[in-house]
Amino acid sequence: MPIKRSLDQSNSPAAAKKTKSLVNSEQQKGENLEESLRPNSLAEYIGQSSLKQVLEVAIAAAKGREEPLDHLLLYGPPGLGKTTLSLILASQMGVNCRITTAPALERPRDITGLLLNLQPGDILFIDEIHRLNRVAEELLYPAMEDYRLDITIGKGQGARIRSLNLPKFTLVGATTKVGSLSSPLRDRFGLIQRLNYYEVPELIEIIERTAKLLQTPITNSAAYTVALRSRGTPRIANRLFKRVRDYAQVEQVNPISAELAIKALDILNIDPKGLDQSDRLFLQTIIEQFQGGPVGLEAVAAATGEDTKTIEEVYEPYLLKIGYINRTPRGRIVTKAAYTHLGI
Ligand code: ADE
Repeated sequence: MPIKRSLDQSNSPAAAKKTKSLVNSEQQKGENLEESLRPNSLAEYIGQSSLKQVLEVAIAAAKGREEPLDHLLLYGPPGLGKTTLSLILASQMGVNCRITTAPALERPRDITGLLLNLQPGDILFIDEIHRLNRVAEELLYPAMEDYRLDITIGKGQGARIRSLNLPKFTLVGATTKVGSLSSPLRDRFGLIQRLNYYEVPELIEIIERTAKLLQTPITNSAAYTVALRSRGTPRIANRLFKRVRDYAQVEQVNPISAELAIKALDILNIDPKGLDQSDRLFLQTIIEQFQGGPVGLEAVAAATGEDTKTIEEVYEPYLLKIGYINRTPRGRIVTKAAYTHLGI
């Protein structure tokens, strides 16, 4: 069953920016490639085994009752496969998946337009759902609970609410910051599931699958080398694999060997733990300017020139996972393991 996917076509500035960015052909090529690598079924999807079990049951039960899936909240670090899972759910349920992101739902009409265009059973995927504004969030409550859209017509004293029926649909929300969701919104999801970082053997499997799809032979030890540096994240594994593949092509090495993979990744400044220059700068700044911490987020952001959101959502989760930083009530602390890794 082909998956119908469509991007939000509303005409808010944010939505326009997103739509426009898709027209850029280089980016489009990259996105098309990424899309072609996505697994199409839970059976093909590697890793997240307990989440897959939960979803298999939810799909079978919903299909048995001929009802849409319960609303699902997926949370966890970026790049672990939240969008992919949503597309798989749509494919396995035989419905469309409409994909949007909370910042594109700036005005009430952005979300009402999307909701009114849903077909029965459709999946509406909202990425970064913790960034929904208050109005959009309040429009979602009756939509999620009673499949009802309450539209306010007019202003001031003459304002009236008109309720429209919506088809039964499934909201899949994705977030890297589940703690930032309001409880009324969180409570309206029937399923709340976390995606965990992938283990190295799972990443090896993903890299070998990608290599096969791209018809690029790779040894198991080269796949292992790339997996070790992928920060537990399939998106990074596939990205690094593509850079290694470029290098192998230029150096005319076939199949890709571990030795070649190490050289390619060293050139990219990706170290054996998968840290890049920005991670190392982040750690070094805390060590050198703040005596290893504790230091507040705003202070490190100012000292490194990174924004707090990137630090919190991209750098820190993995550094916390591998035990290179700790978060304390007084701020971030760099651990001994990080000092050892950096050779300080
Ligand atoms: N490509 C990216 N993530 C994947 C996954 N979890 N399983 C299979 N292929 C993938």
